[in-house]
Amino acid sequence: MLYTILPLIAFLSSRVEAHGVVTKIIAGTKTYDGYQPGKFPYMPTPPAVAGWSTPQLQDLGPINSDKVGDPDIICHRNATPGQAVAEVAAGDKVSLQWQPWPNSHKGPMLDYLADCGDDCTKVDKTQLKFFKIDGVGITNTKGTPPNFADDDMIKANNTWTVTIPASIKPGNYVLRHETIALHQAQAAGGAQMYPQCVNLKITGTGTESPTGVPGVELYKVNDPGLVFNIYKQFKANSDYTVPGPAMFSGAAAADGSPAPPAKRAADPVSEASPDLDRRHSRAFPI
Ligand SMILES: *[C@@H]1O[C@H](CO)[C@@H](O)[C@H](O)[C@H]1NC(C)=O
Repeated sequence: MLYTILPLIAFLSSRVEAHGVVTKIIAGTKTYDGYQPGKFPYMPTPPAVAGWSTPQLQDLGPINSDKVGDPDIICHRNATPGQAVAEVAAGDKVSLQWQPWPNSHKGPMLDYLADCGDDCTKVDKTQLKFFKIDGVGITNTKGTPPNFADDDMIKANNTWTVTIPASIKPGNYVLRHETIALHQAQAAGGAQMYPQCVNLKITGTGTESPTGVPGVELYKVNDPGLVFNIYKQFKANSDYTVPGPAMFSGAAAADGSPAPPAKRAADPVSEASPDLDRRHSRAFPI
């Protein structure tokens, strides 16, 4: 009897576990702090950190996908700019560590950049225009639900690593890192969005300034990647379409190796092609 109810108890307790925020950022070789909503608001002098401030995010919960047009979607609930900046060279990696992430949450991992001009610590978030540099959905179809990118993040000590495109013009950028939980996404409005923003100073000799879109225009409530039933058997990783705008053509593949150059030079339209989705859906090395 005990043996049969134990998995049920484990399942139920995972459902009520806290959600998550990014509490640690490794940019290049240096470690920076994220904002901790359960701690910083109670400190007389909270530290200035590169992660954006979300003092009203005590429950560490999501923005539901019926609110993708609300400014809260930009950098999470009532977010204001982080007061410190993490530095990274274009072409280098940034790793973001979530505080324990519930296994019942399954979905893609995404990353965007937005140029913030002179100073990210004072930027108006509604003026930021984001371009996508990373987006990974299903990484292994085995199992029901299948293995999603956020399962790989959990296996990697709750850490996701993104490569800053080598060709990006140096400057001040907001990195918008995000996971989307699809466990209740069968109906429109049920996907849970967890955006987290980090101020970056990107150094290097790149020249590209990709065009982006305002945060409130990244998604629509009915996007196929936000209305999706994960509880079935899938044939291919590409059966799930990562939501959001087309990938920046200079984005590195999910494992940090350069994208196959032929695909991009020959055909600019390939940004939105299924080929690129597959490239970004391949298994994440642990
Ligand atoms: C996992 O993350 C924790 C918290 O940042 C850290 O203390 C620990 O060393 C990490 N473990 C591994 C195996 O990297």
